[in-house]
Amino acid sequence: MTGSTATRPSEPAGPRSEPQVLGLLERALSASCAASLRAAVKLGLADALGDGPATADALARTVGADPDALRRLLRSLTCHQVFAEDPEGRFVPTETSRLLRTGTPDSLDQLVLWMTEPWTWELWGRLDESVRTGEDVFVGLHGREFFDQVHSAWPESAAVFDRAMTQASVQSARAVAEAVPLSGARTVADIGGGQGCLLAALLEHHPGLRGVLFDRPDVLAGADARLHGDGALAGRARLVAGDCREAVPAGIDAYVFKNVLGMNDEDAVVVLRNVVRTARPGTRVIIVENLVDDGPGQRFSTGMDLRMLLTVGGRKHTRRSLLDLVERAGLTVRDVRPVNTYQHLIEATA
Ligand SMILES: C[S@@+](CC[C@H](N)C(=O)[O-])C[C@H]1O[C@@H](n2cnc3c(N)ncnc32)[C@H](O)[C@@H]1O
Repeated sequence: MTGSTATRPSEPAGPRSEPQVLGLLERALSASCAASLRAAVKLGLADALGDGPATADALARTVGADPDALRRLLRSLTCHQVFAEDPEGRFVPTETSRLLRTGTPDSLDQLVLWMTEPWTWELWGRLDESVRTGEDVFVGLHGREFFDQVHSAWPESAAVFDRAMTQASVQSARAVAEAVPLSGARTVADIGGGQGCLLAALLEHHPGLRGVLFDRPDVLAGADARLHGDGALAGRARLVAGDCREAVPAGIDAYVFKNVLGMNDEDAVVVLRNVVRTARPGTRVIIVENLVDDGPGQRFSTGMDLRMLLTVGGRKHTRRSLLDLVERAGLTVRDVRPVNTYQHLIEATA
């Protein structure tokens, strides 16, 4: 057989190079990096270090750790460029370690905890099963759907999740709020809107707009203080608890879905069909997602994609797979455009 499609014999294997071997083994041991980051957050290392420098012994006293074990943890994190070491062997912060501090506007500490929650480790060990079946392994392991289990059995994890989603949203809320096309809309509903960081930004950006934050009841219990009670935006906001696979609020001019449609495809189509069923024809549907095939951070998004397969049988969408869902649900796609370097906005109508 000739031609470019013919299978060619593979090149004879050359000698294994040390960097190749080490590179592979480092990747195989990358759980240690994730675990070290988690330990750094749990121990409060970035806060304890402050602007540094500090010795491992001093840090061990501050955080209540074994000095030798802590030195080894810091050494590992320094190898991963999380902390740095000065010529005297003391540890100093880096731009990365500063992101692990608690309570700062750019903190990612809750996201690190969410990525590394103890129950995640067992799931990763079963990735081959998910790849064989194309389905999650979560329900088989825990007997309940992911969000039901997290909220009913692991309330601390649920709280970490909600704070993590808010941390992720805070960074982009203003850019997304400016990008969402709401001219002429009087009401917007953020479906699966989490604690309402984006809805608050939308209401701040559009002073005449009223908004509905729609999510699970236990998520709404921790909603952004601006949106309820004496909050500055409470007069224009309504918190509505429910399952968007069953129904979405009616009487809305624009529905927003940000990082929600990664649930399994069948459910995502049901959710969007609920909008088609409920909304007036022509109602705007705005979807904001990180696309797995467009944007920087492919190692992160491909990793999240697999994690979503394991947990909910879902995915991080490609541009095509997301458009397919939207069209299968009966929506008409009007535009697809980037919001920033890592998020895209799909504008559709019911
Ligand atoms: C990945 S988070 C995104 C949160 C928020 N939109 C953001 O971008 O920060 C997914 C959200 O969808 C909510 N959610 C998932 N399934 C849902 C359902 N069936 N009904 C209502 N909300 C749901 C979750 O509780 C969570 O708040």
